[in-house]
Amino acid sequence: MANIVFVAKEIMGDETRVAASVETVKKIKSLGFDVIVEAGAGALSRIPDSEFEAVGAAIGVFADATSADVILKVRRPSESEISGYKTGAVVIAIMDPYGNDEAVAAMARAGLSTFAMELMPRITRAQSMDVLSSQANLAGYQAVIEAAVVYDRAMPMMMTAAGTIPAAKVFVMGAGVAGLQAIATARRLGAAVSATDVRPAAKEQVASLGAKFIAVEDDEFKAAETAGGYAKEMSADYQARQAALVAEHIAKQDIVITTALIPGRPAPRLVSRTMLASMKPGAVAVDLAVERGGNIEGVVTGQVADVEGVKVIGFLNMAGRVAASASALYAKNLVTFLETMVSKETKSVVLNLEDELIRATMLTYAGDVVHPAFGGAKKGDN
Ligand code: NAI
Repeated sequence: MANIVFVAKEIMGDETRVAASVETVKKIKSLGFDVIVEAGAGALSRIPDSEFEAVGAAIGVFADATSADVILKVRRPSESEISGYKTGAVVIAIMDPYGNDEAVAAMARAGLSTFAMELMPRITRAQSMDVLSSQANLAGYQAVIEAAVVYDRAMPMMMTAAGTIPAAKVFVMGAGVAGLQAIATARRLGAAVSATDVRPAAKEQVASLGAKFIAVEDDEFKAAETAGGYAKEMSADYQARQAALVAEHIAKQDIVITTALIPGRPAPRLVSRTMLASMKPGAVAVDLAVERGGNIEGVVTGQVADVEGVKVIGFLNMAGRVAASASALYAKNLVTFLETMVSKETKSVVLNLEDELIRATMLTYAGDVVHPAFGGAKKGDN
C-alpha cells in the first residue's frame, strides 16, 4: 500500500491558506504517494474539493490524519491536531518555533518528525523552498493594496481638466523581500517612493526600482549585514540617529509601510507616536512586522487603528489576504522540499539526517527536540 500524504484544513481562525494546490497534489501522486485532502481545506484559497479529487486526491476528514505518513500544513499543529497523528509521522509547516518551546516539545513527545519551513537556509538549492520569500513578496504587494484602500486620495499623479492630483508619497521602511515588492507595487500605482534599510546591499536594490534611498550611512551601516544576508540589531546610538533622519522624512509622507525584521529578535521600533503625529491628515501606515511586536508605536494587531490621526493597519497574515496566490506558492515550496526527502525506491520519506536542509529545518525527531536553536543537540554535534 502506498504511503499517505494528508493535506490538513487549517483550524486557526485567520488562516486562509492551504498547504497544497492542484499542481502539487499531482506532483505528490507522481512521487508514489496517496493523497488525502481534508474536506474544505482549499475553500478559502478558491480550490474546491472537486478540483483536488479530479487530480486523484481522496477527500477525507480529520480522523484520516491518523493513517498519514506525511502531514502538510500551513501552521504548526495544535495539541488536538497532534493527538490525531501517528507516531513517526512527518509534519511540514510554518512552525513559528521562536518563543513556543512548549509547543515544539509537545510535537517531540508525540514522536513526530517536524520541519519548520521558515528555517530553510537561503542557499541556491533551497531557493524554491523559501517560504519567507514567497509569502513576504505577496505580503509586500498586499500591504500597498490595503494602504491604497484606506487612503482617501488617489495614488498616481492625475492631471485633469478639473485640476491636478499630486502623486502619493510612499515611504517603505525595511527593503528586504516584502519591502522591495512594496516599493515595486507602489511605483506601479504611480506613487513617489522612498525607502530605508540598515543593510548597504539594499541601497542599490531600492535605487534599481526607482525609489529614493534614505539611511544613516556610517561604518555601522556598512557592517550591518550578516553572512546570511539578514540585518543585525543596531546600536542604540545608530537607532537614535536613524530615528532623527526618519522623523524629518516621515512628516512629508502620505503612506508609510514598515517591514523591518531581525531574525530571532523582536521587530525594531522605527515609528514613534510623535512621528505619526507629524504626518499629514489622512496619512496611512501599514505595519507588516506586527506579528513580531511591530515597527510602529500604537499599532493594534489585526485592526486599522487611529493612532495620532494616522490610520495604522496592523493586519496579521497579510499574505493570507491574497490566499489563492499565497497558497499556490507555499504549496510549491512544500512539495519541492518534500521531494528531496522521498526515496525513489521505496516511494516513502527516508530522512537523511546529514542533509543540510533537514539539519536546518528539523525541529523534532524520534521523541526529542533536535534543533539546536530550541534546546536540541543534533546527531553529529558534540
Ligand atoms: P527580513 O524579513 O528579515 O527583514 C526585512 C528587512 O528589514 C531587511 O531588509 C532588514 O535589513 C530590514 N531591517 C532590519 N532592521 C532594520 C532597521 N532598524 N531599519 C530599517 N530596516 C531594517 O529580511 P528578508 O526580507 O527576509 O531579506 C533579507 C535579505 O535576504 C535580503 O537581502 C534578501 O534579498 C535576501 N534573500 C536572499 C535569498 C536567497 O539568497 N535565497 C532569498 C530571500 C531573500
